[in-house]
Amino acid sequence: MSPLNQFDPEGHLRHLITLEGLSPDPILALLDRAQHHVRPIHQAPSTGKSLAGLTVANIFTEPSTRTRASFELAARRLGADVLNLEIMLSSRAKGETVLDTIHTLQAMSTDVFVIRDAEPGVCRLVADHVAAHVSVLSAGEAHLSHPTQGLLDALTIRQKKGSFHQLTLAIVGDIRHSRVARSAYQIFSTLGVGELRIVAPDALMPEAHEMPIARRFDSIEAGIAQADVVMMLRIQKERMVQAAIPEADDYFNRWGLTAKRLALAKKDAIVMHPGPMNREVEIASDVADGPQSVIRQQVTNGVAVRMALLETVMHHRARRQTPT
Ligand code: NCD
Repeated sequence: MSPLNQFDPEGHLRHLITLEGLSPDPILALLDRAQHHVRPIHQAPSTGKSLAGLTVANIFTEPSTRTRASFELAARRLGADVLNLEIMLSSRAKGETVLDTIHTLQAMSTDVFVIRDAEPGVCRLVADHVAAHVSVLSAGEAHLSHPTQGLLDALTIRQKKGSFHQLTLAIVGDIRHSRVARSAYQIFSTLGVGELRIVAPDALMPEAHEMPIARRFDSIEAGIAQADVVMMLRIQKERMVQAAIPEADDYFNRWGLTAKRLALAKKDAIVMHPGPMNREVEIASDVADGPQSVIRQQVTNGVAVRMALLETVMHHRARRQTPT
């Protein structure tokens, strides 16, 4: 396999499969464009026609409510046709079948494939085989990557805190199995956050080489002390080979974000969670719904980020398309 190139020959973003290796410029351009699409929820959403005549296929082989709905709304609000498919793409089906499926959908004029799969490499495989005018966007790849989540998290923090450079950001919980944590690590190490902390029981920590610049903490109290941002993660039971964590009650007692613990962070700290939440397992309900929570703002920002991304990768479509 050749190295992953997410840009077209003219240097425009074409695919988004990972945030790893992206420089700050394309990331900040996406955040700026996304900010343009953010509206308070009591107002009509941002809409446009920039994707009119284009087709977006959402292919999700893992359960998803918010990410799928978010990509679908983003595409529809820009005027695209949207296909939602629940088909098996990964090597659990035969390799040939993946590409047959993709070529079939491409023959129906699909312009963007949005893919979520539990196995690594599926987005990459598809990106290596689609026509030059087609884009592939990851909606979550195994435990490895969830780039639009990283972008919406960065947008949310920027809205609440301004710049990243002075911030102490604590990512807490099941980091080992979390694509959200990996994409967060990538985007915040690229954008240059003041201090990046990872806070987890030993069994849920990633390998040291995976997140070299993060400070590791084995207690939530120490890990969130004086933090500006507390990012909680869902316990990823579906990715655990064996139960590596204690029962839910024990976990909440030692690692759950309660109001008492949150008081250790800065007074104006914000609380994030990608959803879906396990209430009273990783986060207390009163904290999830409390004044420091920005969890719903993250969801609102998700649609804006995906609109910005679809516009960005489709912006040069006409030029990339082979003339007939
Ligand atoms: C996350 C996911 O599926 O990776 N959810 C999401 O996309 N909002 C996080 C999770 O499942 O814990």
